[in-house]
Amino acid sequence: MTVEQKRIVKTAIPGPRSQELQARKLSAVASGVGTTLPVYVERAGGGIVVDVDGNQLIDFGSGIAVTSIGNAAPRVVAAVQQQVADFTHTCFMVTPYEEYVAVAEHLNELTPGTHDKRTALFNSGAEAVENAIKIARHHTGRQAIVAFDHAYHGRTNMTMALTAKNMPYKHGFGPFAPEVYRVPMAYPYRWPTGPQNCADEAFEEFVALVHAQVGETNTAAVIIEPIQGEGGFIVPAPGFLAKVSQWCTEQGIVFIADEIQTGFCRTGDWFACDHEGVVPDLITTAKGIAGGLPLAAVTGRAEIMDAVHVGGLGGTYGGNPVACAAALAAIETMRSDDLVGAARRIESIMLPRLAALAEKFPAIGDVRGRGAMLAVELVAPGTLKPNAALTSAVSAACHQQGLITLTAGTFGNVLRFLPPLVIGDDLLHEGLDILEAAFAANA
Ligand SMILES: Cc1ncc(COP(=O)(O)O)c(C=O)c1O
Repeated sequence: MTVEQKRIVKTAIPGPRSQELQARKLSAVASGVGTTLPVYVERAGGGIVVDVDGNQLIDFGSGIAVTSIGNAAPRVVAAVQQQVADFTHTCFMVTPYEEYVAVAEHLNELTPGTHDKRTALFNSGAEAVENAIKIARHHTGRQAIVAFDHAYHGRTNMTMALTAKNMPYKHGFGPFAPEVYRVPMAYPYRWPTGPQNCADEAFEEFVALVHAQVGETNTAAVIIEPIQGEGGFIVPAPGFLAKVSQWCTEQGIVFIADEIQTGFCRTGDWFACDHEGVVPDLITTAKGIAGGLPLAAVTGRAEIMDAVHVGGLGGTYGGNPVACAAALAAIETMRSDDLVGAARRIESIMLPRLAALAEKFPAIGDVRGRGAMLAVELVAPGTLKPNAALTSAVSAACHQQGLITLTAGTFGNVLRFLPPLVIGDDLLHEGLDILEAAFAANA
């Protein structure tokens, strides 16, 4: 079903039917499962989400960077319908099927680097990260894992340990997996001696800390998001990723790029590592990979991936045939509809407008991101003091007007924008007008 690409606000948001459903949710669903905007969805497509009260909201969130090709994208719908009718599950570890192999072939080809690669499929981003760690440890025979300030890698035990933010992800859930060490992120906006020194100084600090506190020969892997997602869309200072990756190679340490949020055209390239020519040893992907169906992957150098004994990797549902069929259709859509180009077009529209907003509203301390992964960081004007209250207020004001926005950041002071790559220019501009009005009313 096609969805008219038009914002419509008919009721208060959330409307009465959504409120009824939210009341049911509160008495049926564990309260630990939070909700950003309790608007219950009936259907969605392109840049619009339609709720049960008939409101049509502009989508600047893509279900947290998932529906990059749009919701219910036609090729995905057709592929899933066909696959559901053919078979829904056999377990790839029992009796395999072509779709899994084909997804692996595509990932081996599309991910950075032309070396020989292998792929294993899983169900969620966190599961992919867990497996990347397993593989790196097995390959190196080492245990320590190095992760960065502001990192987010998931909510399972190992990935909570890797994640840097306590509330809400870790609070009260310890003890966490051992042998995880944290180092500073090359965060240009907040680098004490200025952004121009950030890459070099952060790299020096990283090397010194690993040497002094962990030991290179104890270190199995360094894991980094090439643009940090939940941490606040932090784009590392140019050159930092390449230096870390190169140093890992020299030390026999596996360099893992977690591209779960940045992958699949989101940043205006197939993968964020591509912007700097960085070639990771292992790359984790999920989210945008399958048009909304749950699928995740670890792709990497054949000699690292194949170090694991037969049977050491897998899971009942990993690489489910319906999710694989969706991924094949999603990848075809990204290629044939040039969604790399679409992400760049979105950047060319949004970035100048966000920069203009920053000129107008001094609470916007930084504008950053790439492609269709853009953010503004809010502070007390003239300082670096995070302004989480304003971030929440602006986001809530956008919601009231029928614009889905998300927040992020270790300090809760980042508004992040992740529109579907298929959103029209008119909706983008309308969404930005709403954002501007929300700043005018609250900043
Ligand atoms: C960079 C990154 N890694 C891992 C994850 C975890 O993925 P999932 O929620 O599918 O487990 C996320 C999710 O937001 C992410 O952004």
